[in-house]
Parts: sequence; C-alpha cells; structure tokens
Amino acid sequence: MPNSKITIFDHPLIKHKISLLRDKNTGTKDFRTLIEEIATLMGYEALRDLPLENVEVETPICKTMSPMVSGKKLAIVPILRAGLGMVNGILALVPSAKVGHIGMYRDEVTHLPHEYYCKLPENIGERTIIVLDPMLATGGSAVDAVTLIKQRGGQHIKFMSIIAAPEGLKLLSETHPDVEIYCGNLDERLNENCYIVPGLGDAGDRIFGTK
Ligand code: PRP
Ligand code: URA
Repeated sequence: MPNSKITIFDHPLIKHKISLLRDKNTGTKDFRTLIEEIATLMGYEALRDLPLENVEVETPICKTMSPMVSGKKLAIVPILRAGLGMVNGILALVPSAKVGHIGMYRDEVTHLPHEYYCKLPENIGERTIIVLDPMLATGGSAVDAVTLIKQRGGQHIKFMSIIAAPEGLKLLSETHPDVEIYCGNLDERLNENCYIVPGLGDAGDRIFGTK
C-alpha cells in the first residue's frame, strides 16, 4: 500500500507497548496508561509539521525572537468512546490544543457506524485537526468522522490509530487521499465480526472497563 500520506510506526517502544496492550491479561489501569503513552510517542512524529510562530523571549543574555508552537491552531478530535483514551497523550505534547468530539458507534450486526454526537472547536477550517481512534477496523467510523469534519469546514486533517487492519487503511486512504494517516501497527486482517486480528479486542471496553 505505497502512499506517502501513510506512516506505519516501527519504533521499538511503540511495538513493545502495543504488545502489552494486546495481552488479554493487561488490566484497565495499565491499558489506559499504555494507550496514552503510545499516543504521545505517535504524536511526536505526527505533529512534526505543526505551525510555529516567532515570539519574543528574553534570555539571560538578550532579547530574541524564538519559535513556539501555536496550540491555538491545533484541534484534537477523538472518536468516542475509545479515542478519548488518546487525548491526554496528545495534550501532554500540546497542552493548549482545542478538543472536539465525535460520537460514533458500530452497529453490532451490520458493523456500520452511526453518528450520535459532534462538537468541533471554532474556526475548524483554520486548524490542523488530528482525529484520534485507537482502532481502524473496517474504516467506516474513520471515513464518516473525516467526512463530517470536512462538511463543517475542516481542511488539514490527520488521522491517528494505534492498530489498523488493511481493509480500514485502504478504505480511509482511498476515500480521503488528502488525509495523513498514522498507525502504530498494521495487523493481519478482520475476522467475521469485523474485529481486528490479532488486534486487542474491544478498545472502548478495555479502556473504560465495560463488559
Ligand atoms: C470502535 C473503535 C472505532 C470503531 C472501529 O468503536 O473505537 O471507533 O470501532 O471500527 P470500524 O473501523 O469498523 O468503523 P465502537 O463502535 O466499538 O464504539 P465504542 O468506542 O463506543 O466502544
Ligand atoms: N473496534 C474495536 O474496538 N476493536 C476491533 O478490533 C474492531 C473495532
């Protein structure tokens, strides 16, 4: 799937932490911590082109103009519920970023996404937007979330998932070729219930301790 807009991470720390996430014996507390830590590690790379602005700083020697990240120009948009788990990991890097929310759930039978909530920061068209969801399975939720953001004026959109299936990566990159996609790992396939194999199970349930 050669596409310059897709980044699949090969950093050993990300690989190590994803293996811990996959383990069915990893409990809620550790699972949450790992999701956050992986989001921070991935965010470091995904935010490489963040806009900078020169601000005046006074060093012990003299005044100078020095570049700083303008958090006002960034919007983080988790897809509820599981995307929420990644928010603090990104805010650790850019604490003043604005946060929007998109609520989506997958129908258990059809596996199609249904939107139930959308609230985005103001001036969304002027911001770099990072959509967060740990799981990119069929890609339906990601595609619909990006479409919704575009309908509301969003233009510069990145999508970050911790685990992706080839099916979801293909659908998202073909439907929204302008979107930069960052995946912690590309897994093998989907199973008959559209869960990622080997995956990590249901991310929302594992983050929030439901089920
Ligand atoms: C999960 C996950 C994604 C979606 C991925 O959410 O967090 O949003 O499934 O599947 P897709 O790529 O096939 O659309 P789910 O619908 O289970 O909702 P939840 O986060 O509230 O549990
Ligand atoms: N959603 C999840 O949480 N896990 C999967 O494997 C697929 C969709």
